[in-house]
Amino acid sequence: MTATTPVLELVEVTKHFGAIKAVDGVSFAVMPGECVGLVGDNGAGKSTLVKIISGYHPQTSGSMQIQGQRVSFASPSDSRQHKIETVYQDLALVEQLDVAANFFLGREKYTGWGRLLRYLDRKVMRSQAREELQRIGISIPRMSATVSELSGGQRQSIAIARSIFWGSECLILDEPTAALGVKETNAVAELIERVIASGVAVVVVAHDIDLITKLSSRIVVLRQGRVWSRLKTDEVSAADIVHHITGMARAA
Ligand SMILES: Nc1ncnc2c1ncn2[C@@H]1O[C@H](COP(=O)(O)OP(=O)(O)OP(=O)(O)O)[C@@H](O)[C@H]1O
Ligand SMILES: [Mg+2]
Repeated sequence: MTATTPVLELVEVTKHFGAIKAVDGVSFAVMPGECVGLVGDNGAGKSTLVKIISGYHPQTSGSMQIQGQRVSFASPSDSRQHKIETVYQDLALVEQLDVAANFFLGREKYTGWGRLLRYLDRKVMRSQAREELQRIGISIPRMSATVSELSGGQRQSIAIARSIFWGSECLILDEPTAALGVKETNAVAELIERVIASGVAVVVVAHDIDLITKLSSRIVVLRQGRVWSRLKTDEVSAADIVHHITGMARAA
């Protein structure tokens, strides 16, 4: 592995659902501390690609490499074991559980003796979750609040904070700010900027071109499952990007 080894690289990845080619030979790479924006119209294949990276769907063909090593994921936990965390718009958190329980979801802390006499160590989980959220500047009133009591921005922040805490090297965000207000969108965007600055490789999927422009240094435009254009963010205007998504413009 060298400084120029991508954290994540996809080579000619394809996903067919019966006759539908949802993803059709997509290649791109993300370096540490870099954000790649993945854009495209409805049905272009973005979420399918995200689900392949997060181990939810096996690809039909093509390959993926993490830190230069070829990987194949049979489940989302395989992807997490390779330090990839995915944050979905709706599926990020469990509504009925409190903030701390969500923070430790699937990695709960126990106290007691052996497997039979153990119980959840809520006190430790709450104080660690509070500490970590404060450290990255997120204020949540109570760790015992259930997620259903929180705003959309607070939920996204917790989901992102959790992935930072568990040491992800690659963060995949599918519409992280859809359905958020202006203020909450800005707060989540700032949090993502800090994650990128800390050296994590980030892939962000969004229809919000301002968000893509703010976060990414490169943009991959998908159309009907294929890479239509590859853009350098500082060389294009928002109108150019929209034109690549919907119009005739194309870049190699
Ligand atoms: N589980 C599935 N079974 C069959 N077809 C699917 C499945 N998931 C997605 N598709 C199809 O694959 C194509 C790409 O869908 P995908 O959800 O990846 O699009 P998207 O780019 O995320 O769109 P949007 O911007 O609307 O979220 C669509 O034609 C969709 O109908
Ligand atoms: Mg989608």
